[in-house]
Amino acid sequence: MKVLVVGGGGREHTLAWKVSMSPLVDEVVCAPGNGGIRQHARCVSLSAEDVDGQVDLAVREKADLVIVGPEVPLVGGLIDKLEEAGIPAFGPSAQAAQLEGSKVFSKEFMKRHGIPTAAFTVHQDLDSALAQIDRKSGPCVIKADGLAAGKGVIVCANPDEARQAIREILGEKRFGEAGSTVIIEDLLVGEEASILAICDGKKMIPLIAAQDHKAAYDGDSGPNTGGMGAYAPAPVVTPALHDKIVKEVLTRTIDGMAKDGTPFRGILYAGLMISGDDIKVLEFNVRFGDPECQPLLMLMKSDIVPILMAAAKGDLGDSAVEWHSGSSICLVLASGGYPGPYEKGMAISGLDDAGATENVMVFHAGTKLDGDALVTAGGRVLGVTGIGHNLGEAAKCAYDAADKISWDGMRMRRDIGHRAL
Ligand code: AMP
Ligand code: GLY
Repeated sequence: MKVLVVGGGGREHTLAWKVSMSPLVDEVVCAPGNGGIRQHARCVSLSAEDVDGQVDLAVREKADLVIVGPEVPLVGGLIDKLEEAGIPAFGPSAQAAQLEGSKVFSKEFMKRHGIPTAAFTVHQDLDSALAQIDRKSGPCVIKADGLAAGKGVIVCANPDEARQAIREILGEKRFGEAGSTVIIEDLLVGEEASILAICDGKKMIPLIAAQDHKAAYDGDSGPNTGGMGAYAPAPVVTPALHDKIVKEVLTRTIDGMAKDGTPFRGILYAGLMISGDDIKVLEFNVRFGDPECQPLLMLMKSDIVPILMAAAKGDLGDSAVEWHSGSSICLVLASGGYPGPYEKGMAISGLDDAGATENVMVFHAGTKLDGDALVTAGGRVLGVTGIGHNLGEAAKCAYDAADKISWDGMRMRRDIGHRAL
């Protein structure tokens, strides 16, 4: 069969690699792909956000299955249009993708279905939002309702910072339409972890827990990024907590979405705050996390293709996921300056050496070919991913390989996995 992977980041490189190993698959096509995905797929230059273009491509290629990586085309209805065209597609409908596309939708959904989350209020006008801050003291979190490329959440240490954030979002329209409504939410403290599940609309297969490192610098300091590294399994999610998350978060979400008439197919990603045995949902995403996807798929022993196909067709049946034992860790190598402004086009050296390291995969994110040379083309450039019998071993392989790679300004965190090590 032929599989089309939509997207061009580290997550999509990992998906293309995993899919290409399936004995069921003859060819993988990826659009737009990147400088590394070419090793596993035929890349077609076409934006992931061009929904109609992606449908045309899938039809033209006679794809047997489409796997959509990023959130924007999911929220934009790519799955609905592929289904209309009769092509099996893994991901949620536009309506179900509102779990990520609108934080108001998601918070109200959680409230309605008894899913644990921080207390919140919703505001469309500046005065009502500022008045709510006057009623509170201490820290809080301000969130733009819509998609804001991971930048729409501002954690505020005091009411003054909250007023400032509200003025920027509602007053100055910093996030445009995505910020025409804001949420004011109680601050949660604890340790974060993510649990993802493969869903078919009625049932799901929970994956092992992962932990992302969103802060730019060591010691979880500095501005938030798309993620500077991730590892799995995350021991903060004990077996008892895992059961509780499945029961109180994942099952209630799948059942609630079905009951509301918007059954959820695809990856349900629950971002959680954990404090002792208390769990609360910070956010839902409707796709694999990037870079959480990298360690999760390195550890996945099962062929992913029949599972995603069964989910896309709405019937997981008795599909199950088998795992390799041990741990996996992904280190993100980023451009100097990221998540602020950075330069592109830097020649990358040491890739072959790093790629030859045992138990390591170098997944590409922001890379492209410039003639014969691979150059940087984004903020997060590579995801060096190691696997080992335990997290320490996996981290050692990954750091050994990452240390062979360099370009002008390259930067990585030295402490990925520190909470579990
Ligand atoms: P989100 O995009 O909603 O995941 O938020 C991005 C990050 O903001 C999360 O990973 C948390 O680190 C932080 N965050 C979001 N909501 C809260 C909250 N209620 N309390 C504390 N931190 C939060
Ligand atoms: N790594 C966080 C995300 O993919 O949203």
